[in-house]
Amino acid sequence: MNDELVEIVEGTTKIIVPKGSITEKVPPKEPAFFNPRARLSRDISIIAYSAFWKDFEFPKIFFDGLSGLGARGLRVANEIDGVEKVIVNDVNPNALEIALNSSKINNLKNFEISEDETCRFLSSHSRKNKRASIVDIDPFGSPSRYIDCSIRATMHGGMLALTATDLQVLHGLFNKAAKRRYYGVPIKTEFSNEIAIRLILGCVNFVAGRLDISFEPLFVDHDMHYYRTYLKILNTPEQEEKIGYIIFCKNCGDRYAGIKYETKCRKCAHNTEIAGPLWIGKLFDKEFVKKMSNVKNTLTVDKKCEKILERSKMEAELPATYYTLNEIASRMNSAPIRLENAINKLKEHGFNASVTSLNPGGFRTDCEIDEIIRIFRS
Ligand SMILES: C[S@@+](CC[C@H](N)C(=O)[O-])C[C@H]1O[C@@H](n2cnc3c(N)ncnc32)[C@H](O)[C@@H]1O
Ligand SMILES: [Zn+2]
Repeated sequence: MNDELVEIVEGTTKIIVPKGSITEKVPPKEPAFFNPRARLSRDISIIAYSAFWKDFEFPKIFFDGLSGLGARGLRVANEIDGVEKVIVNDVNPNALEIALNSSKINNLKNFEISEDETCRFLSSHSRKNKRASIVDIDPFGSPSRYIDCSIRATMHGGMLALTATDLQVLHGLFNKAAKRRYYGVPIKTEFSNEIAIRLILGCVNFVAGRLDISFEPLFVDHDMHYYRTYLKILNTPEQEEKIGYIIFCKNCGDRYAGIKYETKCRKCAHNTEIAGPLWIGKLFDKEFVKKMSNVKNTLTVDKKCEKILERSKMEAELPATYYTLNEIASRMNSAPIRLENAINKLKEHGFNASVTSLNPGGFRTDCEIDEIIRIFRS
């Protein structure tokens, strides 16, 4: 094991990391785990948390339930104004020692470590006035085992952020595992990443429902190896039904989200493929994404964030599921048209349409497949 440590800078924060995590292809778990490729995900978190805490009337307290060497928590404590307290928790004492040393070189006074199992740590902070206003869960694999305890440790009106990296399960390779972890199953489609996010949110909805708690998704993002969801937690039971299915017809390409389990295509009567049960409500809060865009300019983050936020803002109020240009082109037996043209054409015909942050060649619209093909041919 190579125990050599080096200092890097992410955002404006100095972070001590094992040298191997920078030089090796797969970051080692010993002495502590750090993935430099998750920088974009941490940048987005810093933007989301800054936006969430802007004009926030309660204490800015942040818990990282599975912190590794504390990269996210260090950045929260250092880069966001007025943070009262950050507690980073992990079972790995080496990771926590490194985190504490990083906090010293950044002169942080608002940074604490905790060595405990995640759910034990969060449960010890689940009483009123002990909870955090933002809780972050970033495990290896699925967050599902931590959803209950992380909701309990998030204050009413606070934020819960969850990462999932069990992409094979979420993308339909192991449906028994998907049912176990998320209560629903995916299907393999061009828009599988949206289904994955909706399965995670579906699971949160089931767990929160048991606790008479509801949530509103504020933001979601996806990069090569992870999904992230940012949710506002509310101490009130859900009133509206937001659990349903995504119905997809491989034959004609029709797709939509609905409450009913429809086994026959509404357009061509072919057998459908069905993902779910899953979350069919909104994925983004447009006002929140606007707030993120505004605070971004005051932070040191990757340029890519701007594009992600622009796209998210545009798609925020459009329907569930998206189409890709390649898929439509192959259905039309022609070369794909340009994304901008596709969106303009749909708008000219009176439909809503936008790019999506989930796929560079994808678009969302309220126009249905047969009409899309007719319009693109025109
Ligand atoms: C993906 S890493 C966290 C990375 C970190 N959030 C970052 O941005 O660098 C997951 C961490 O969870 C810790 N861990 C795994 N199971 C745990 C458990 N049951 N309780 C507490 N920590 C746990 C591991 O030691 C590891 O450091
Ligand atoms: Zn069909």
